[in-house]
Amino acid sequence: MTRLGILLSGRGSNFLAIADAIAHGKLPNAKIAVVVSNKADAPGIAAARARGLAAHVIEANGRKRAEQDAEILACLREHEVELVCLAGYMRLLSPEFVAAFPQRILNIHPSLLPAFPGLDAQRQALQYGVGVTGCTVHFVDEQLDHGVIVLQRVVPVMDGDDEAKLSARILEQEHIAYPEAIARVLSGQYSIQGRRYVLRTQEKNSVSQEVQ
Ligand code: GAR
Repeated sequence: MTRLGILLSGRGSNFLAIADAIAHGKLPNAKIAVVVSNKADAPGIAAARARGLAAHVIEANGRKRAEQDAEILACLREHEVELVCLAGYMRLLSPEFVAAFPQRILNIHPSLLPAFPGLDAQRQALQYGVGVTGCTVHFVDEQLDHGVIVLQRVVPVMDGDDEAKLSARILEQEHIAYPEAIARVLSGQYSIQGRRYVLRTQEKNSVSQEVQ
C-alpha cells in the first residue's frame, strides 16, 4: 500500500477525483495518508475533513518558503507519505522539499506542457489562439511546471470558448488523467531516460527492435 500525501490550495476537485478513484477500487495499492492545504479556507481541506481524512492547514504566515516547506515535510513524514500529489497547490516548492522526494512528487497542470506554464494556463491558451490544449501530469523538479511528463490528455479549443468553458472541459480530463498517472507511477513499470518517461513494455519493444 503506497501512502499518498495531497497538497492543495483551493477547490480540491483533483484531490476528490483521486479519492474517488481509490474508493472505487481503481487505485487498489494507494491510500490517502494526509491532505495538506496552505490556505485555511480551501474548500478542498473541508472536503478532506468531511471524508474523515487527516487534514492539516499549514499557512506561510509571512514565513520564508523553506520554513513553511519544512513544516509541511515534517507533517508528511509523520504520516509516512511515500508519494506527494500536488492537486492545485499554488505555491512553488523549495529545493529542499523537492530533494526530499526525488521523482516522488507529481503535479497536474492545465495545459500541454511545455506550453503555457505558470498561472492562468487556460487563459494563456485562449489568448495564444491554439486549436488544442489539455492537461499534463508530471514529476516535480526545481523548475516551475518542468519535470518529466508522465501523461498528457488533449482537449480541443472550440469556437465560442471562454476561459470558464475551456477550463471546465480541461478539468474533466484532469480528473481522468491524475488517477491514471498515479496508477502508472505506482505500477513501478517504467524508467526515466533523460526527460522521457518510458513504460517497461516499450523498453522491451525497443530492445527487441534493435536486436532484429
Ligand atoms: C486545476 O485546474 C489544476 O490543473 C490547476 O489548478 C486547478 C486546481 O483545481 N493547477 C495549476 O494551475 C498548477 N500550476 P482543483 O483544486 O479543483 O483540483
